Amino acid sequence: MMKIVKNITACFAIAIILTSCAAGGNDQGTEYAPNMYHSVAYEPYSQITDPAAGRWLTSIDYEDGHAEFYNSNTLNANTMGVAMNMRTPPANTVPRNKQGWLPYRIPKDSLELAAKRLKNPLDSTTQVIADGKVLYETYCQHCHGAKGMGDGKVSDKYNGIANLKGDAIKNVTEGHIFHVITNGKGLMWAHGSQMSVEDRWKISKYVKVLQK
Ligand code: HEC
Repeated sequence: MMKIVKNITACFAIAIILTSCAAGGNDQGTEYAPNMYHSVAYEPYSQITDPAAGRWLTSIDYEDGHAEFYNSNTLNANTMGVAMNMRTPPANTVPRNKQGWLPYRIPKDSLELAAKRLKNPLDSTTQVIADGKVLYETYCQHCHGAKGMGDGKVSDKYNGIANLKGDAIKNVTEGHIFHVITNGKGLMWAHGSQMSVEDRWKISKYVKVLQK
């Protein structure tokens, strides 16, 4: 009788051991020492300032008596209660892009201001104009046409597409064109979210070439 009970107990024990190994997908199975598999999240914006934090976990004694988690961000130690690797930028800091350009903030309804103030930062090199042509063919030609006459394929269905060589437009500044590409105008939709600032300036250059 005793033997049967022992056998049954052994069977259950083996069954439990086998079923607890069912790791897969999102189920990591049973872990015996999780801190060996999972690295501690590194938080660049924070620092643990409580000297007692983590005391419950280990009995490691540091020289100044703090516990395991204190100052866990060792790359930038805790000074004056603020310690982070990534610092909050000073007030009024403005982000710039890779070329060092400031964000474009002239509002949509200020076309005249943009036209007068904005200067194309790019030179009229063959490369810039060649790039501008490719971009124009991608983003503008289907409406404005290969020569800018407002006769692209879309003009069969979409009325009022401007002739870029027409009297009203042919003398506009590159800043004017840049602003129209960025914010749209009237029936033309904004393209600012689809094109980098640099690409918009390249197209503006190319439109001036087309208009000649
Ligand atoms: C969906 C068709 C469409 C696309 C794509 C399009 N445009 Fe236009 N564009 C228009 C229409 C329509 C107008 C006339 C807007 C108005 O005055 O109502 C216009 C007007 C303009 C004007 C004249 C603005 C003014 O001051 O009167 C310029 C310059 C211009 N587009 C440049 C571009 C460039 C550069 C691109 C490519 C990045 C482009 N457009 C893409 C439809 C389009």
